[in-house]
Amino acid sequence: MRTGADSPSTCGIGGLAPSGAEVTYLCRVTELVPITRDNWRRAARIRVAEGQLRFVAAYEPVALVILGKAFVRDANLDWWPYLIEDAGRAVGVLALLDERQLNCGMALFHLTIDAGQQRRGYGRAAVRCAVELARQAENCDRLRLTVHPENQPAITLYQSEGFVVDGIDAEGELRLSTATPKGGIRRG
Ligand SMILES: CC(C)(COP(=O)(O)OP(=O)(O)OC[C@H]1O[C@@H](n2cnc3c(N)ncnc32)[C@H](O)[C@@H]1OP(=O)(O)O)[C@@H](O)C(=O)NCCC(=O)NCCS
Repeated sequence: MRTGADSPSTCGIGGLAPSGAEVTYLCRVTELVPITRDNWRRAARIRVAEGQLRFVAAYEPVALVILGKAFVRDANLDWWPYLIEDAGRAVGVLALLDERQLNCGMALFHLTIDAGQQRRGYGRAAVRCAVELARQAENCDRLRLTVHPENQPAITLYQSEGFVVDGIDAEGELRLSTATPKGGIRRG
C-alpha cells in the first residue's frame, strides 16, 4: 500500500568519486527518480551489456519490465520503478518492491546500469540510495534482493555494501538482505 510519506520519493547520494584513473575527482550526484510519464522514454533507452540480460530480466528494455510489473501489481504488491540519474542524465533503472505487509521489508529488483556507464560507481550509489529509501519507509526493517549465483560483480557489490547471504531461493538465486534501521544513513 502506498500512502503519504511512504510514496516513492527522490533520493540522492553526492560526492562519489569514479574509479577511472583519468578523472581524479568529480562532484557527482546520483539520484533515484520515480519513473513517470515525463521520463519513461529515457528509462527505456537503458541497455545492459552483452551476456548480462539473464542476470536482471527476461526481456529488454528492463525499464518496461519494471513498469509492466508496477502496472499489473505483480505478486499482488506495489512496485516502485526508479530511474537512476547522474546530474539529470539517465544511467540506469531499478525497482523497489513494497513487501512490508508480508515481512516488514522492501526488496530491490532489476538493478541495471547502462552498458556504457558501468564501472563508474553508479551501481554502488544506486544501492546506497535504495537502502536509504528503505530506511526512510515506515515499518521497513530490511531490504532484500536475490542475485544469480554466477553474477559475481553484483554479489561483490552487495556484500561490500553490507548485504549478507540468507539462503537460496527456489530458482537457485542467492537471497541477500541488509537491516534498514531508522535514524542513520551509512555512507562509505
Ligand atoms: C552489477 C551492476 C549493477 C554494477 O554496476 P556498476 O555501476 O558497474 O558498479 P560500480 O561501478 O558501482 O562498482 C561497484 C562494485 O561492484 C563490483 N563490480 C562491478 N562491476 C564489476 C565487474 N565487471 N567485475 C568485477 N567487479 C565488478 C566491484 O566490486 C565494484 O567495486 P570497485 O569499483 O571498488 O571494484 C552492473 O554491472 C549491471 O547493471 N549489470 C547488469 C545487470 C545486473 O547484473 N544487475 C544486478 C542484478 S542482481
